[in-house]
This record gives sequence, structure tokens and C-alpha cells, in this order.
Amino acid sequence: MTRSEKLYKRALEVLPGGVSRNTVLRDPYPPYADFGEGCRLTDIEGVSRIDFSNNMASLLHGHACKEVVQAVTAQLKKGSAFTMATEVEVLYAEHLCSRNPSFDKLRFVNSGTEAIMATLKASRAFTGRPKIAKVEGAYHGQYDYAEVSQTPTPQTWGDIDCPNSVPVAHGTPESALNDVVVLPFNDTTRAIAILNKHADELACVLLDLMPHRVGLRPADGEFVEAIRGWTEQHDVLLVLDEVITFRCEYGGLQERYNITADLTALGKAIGGGFPVGAITGRSEVMDVMNPCNDNLLFPHSGTFSANPITMTAGLVAMEKFDKHEVARLNALAQRAIEGIENAIEETGVTACVTGAGSMFRVHMKEQPPQNFREAFLTPEENQKLQMLLDHLFEEGFLMINTCSAALSTPMTETEIDTLVNAVKSGFVKLQ
Ligand SMILES: Cc1ncc(COP(=O)(O)O)c(C=O)c1O
Repeated sequence: MTRSEKLYKRALEVLPGGVSRNTVLRDPYPPYADFGEGCRLTDIEGVSRIDFSNNMASLLHGHACKEVVQAVTAQLKKGSAFTMATEVEVLYAEHLCSRNPSFDKLRFVNSGTEAIMATLKASRAFTGRPKIAKVEGAYHGQYDYAEVSQTPTPQTWGDIDCPNSVPVAHGTPESALNDVVVLPFNDTTRAIAILNKHADELACVLLDLMPHRVGLRPADGEFVEAIRGWTEQHDVLLVLDEVITFRCEYGGLQERYNITADLTALGKAIGGGFPVGAITGRSEVMDVMNPCNDNLLFPHSGTFSANPITMTAGLVAMEKFDKHEVARLNALAQRAIEGIENAIEETGVTACVTGAGSMFRVHMKEQPPQNFREAFLTPEENQKLQMLLDHLFEEGFLMINTCSAALSTPMTETEIDTLVNAVKSGFVKLQ
């Protein structure tokens, strides 16, 4: 029995399924991390792998980034949480707001889930309307409303002209399902027709410009502009979920589109390796959280929000992720995408690759999926994907479990080319 196997047996006694987050599970037992350094992660068996998962796209500089460690160590000696605001919170809010002209004001929270929840509550408070619209299959964390139709199946998803609101957790109140309008991704005509039916009831449209679970394919410009136009016309807010995609450009993936969001939710990478979320956007909307107003529309707080450890790590990490590093990482991802496309052509395997910025995803499908229904894996495609993931794991690569990758700045062309070669040998095995 390996150390990880023994540990997992003990874990099963105290943690449901042996884990606190399902994403770390592996069959028959998960590996346990010992230490990380740069772009490599070593498990307690002593096996070192190149880490392309980067804690689900949240680590920009890989593991134990020297500058982050130094700054956080200094802050830890001064204390980690106070019932008092800190200077670093202000400095960091200033930095993040400077990265995108649509970020007038900002509030920190502790996770992406919390950030999305706050954007939805702020939207309701601002508009006085109850409903939200979201894209079928998009993952926005675990708030009741945000998770509707995150995992529908062909048996439950219903007619594409009017997709069902499908619960994730048993016991989700019917009222929550009724307050969520589900849209197909990248399908302007259908999405606008659905929105029109609910125009008077909607507080916001929640949109991820490159939803990972919907296929990690960037939204078409025409789709995004149509949604923005519709929301403006109907005084409905546009909320962008940039919890993952903020890493794709200096000011977030929205920089690539000809739009301005009302609110944006941030998370993951802006924590510099620590738990974080943020809600940012137009002053007028953010003001619903302003306790100095006579009429406070959305009281908002959190014990660990803007704690100085996260603020310190985040500020150092994001300052280091400057325009040059964003461009360098994006070019490396492009190199990987082209390398994998060549491997697909040379081996003749049925596969394709999607992505943008510093991320990409391999699909065992001929064509890049347009929406969640197309991205949905058949049992045969799923089996092939698992075989490819197992092959990569054995060859020394840690991927996100959808066969996606999120790069980190310690990576160079060497790591990219090594991964591309391993993906190619995986394709050969599958043939
Ligand atoms: C797009 C998106 N939004 C929100 C979340 C929720 O973030 P967290 O896991 O920090 O709650 C995630 C997490 O994976 C995400 O990918």
C-alpha cells in the first residue's frame, strides 16, 4: 500500500468520499501533495509532475512563488486577521481597479462562489427584480441560483428553445429554479427570444465569456454584443463571471470584446494562492453596498473578507502578472494549441482543442463544441478522455480533470513542448 492509499483509507473515515473537494479525487485513490516549487508539484510518494492544473487555474506563478512567500511571511508575523481594515486592502483595490476601466469600485470576498452570490444580490437590489439569466452548463460556484442547470443531461435539459431549469442539489427550492432563466451559449437568436419572454422580471444576465464546462470556447463577439445590447435596452444588468478568465488578458477577457459590463465577479488568480473573490463594476451599482447611504439596499460583510494575507499575496501576484507576462503566457498557450492541433493531424485521432489566453482544453470530438449540449461527452468519448488523462498523469503531468490546462509563469517552451509530445503519444495509444 502506498502512503497515499493509506491516507485515503483514513480520510474515508472522516470526510465524505475522503475529500473536501470532489475535483481532487482520482480512481482508485487520490495522490496527496507534499510540496510544490515553480511549475512542479511533488506528491508524498516523491513523484514530481509538471502542474498544468494550477489549483484549477488559480495559480499564476505556480507554487511557492518567491516574492509571494516573502511578502506573506512578513505579513504573517504582523498578524493574519483583524477587526480593522488594512492599508494593503486599499492598495490592492486601487491596483485591480486600474486594470480595467469598467472597475470603478470593488469589494473583496473569500471565494468565487461568494463573489457571484454578491453580484446577483447586488443586481436584484439595484433593479428591484427577482430573476437572473445564465448560460446552460456554465459553472458559477454553489449559490442556489448560480448553480441551476450546471449539470443537466439529455434526459433533463429539455427543449433548446426553452431549456429547463435543472437543479444540481436535491432539495433546491422550486422557487429558486423558477427565478433562473437558462440560455443556450453562443446562440443569439434563441437566447434573445428567451430573454424577451422575461424582460420585466430580470435583474441581470450572468455570463462567462469562456465557460470552462461549456467547452472552454470564447463567446462569439456577435453573441456578447447582442446580449449587452439587449440588457441596455431593458435596464437589465450585465454581470460577467471572470473568476477564471481574468487571467486571459491584463484587464480580463472582457478586454477583447467591445462591451462594458455593469458588474464583474473575480476570484481564483487574484488571491495569489489564497482564498479570494471580488465584486467590482460601475459605481452606481456598487453603491447598493455602501453603508454610508441613508437607504442601504444590500448589506454586505464577511469575517475574513479582505484579510491581509490574501491582500498581500494577491497584490504581489497581480503586480508581477504585468502586460508582458500576460502576453508571454498567452503565446505559450497558443504554442500548445498549435502543437496539439498538429498532433491531431499527424495521428488522425478524433479530437480538437479549444481555449484562449493562458488556457486550453482537449476534447475527444471532431469539432469544437458550440454549447454545453455539444460539449456533453458520450460514454465512449468520456472513456477516451479518461485514458488520455491517465496517460498524461503517468507521464508526469497534472491536468484539470476535463483535460484542460492553465499555464503558470515559471513555464517555458520546454514544458509546453514536453506536454505536447505526451499528448501526441497519448493520441497514438488511443488509435
Ligand atoms: C467561472 C467560475 N465561477 C465561479 C467559480 C467559483 O469559485 P470558487 O471555487 O472560488 O467558489 C468557479 C470555480 O471553479 C469558476 O470556474
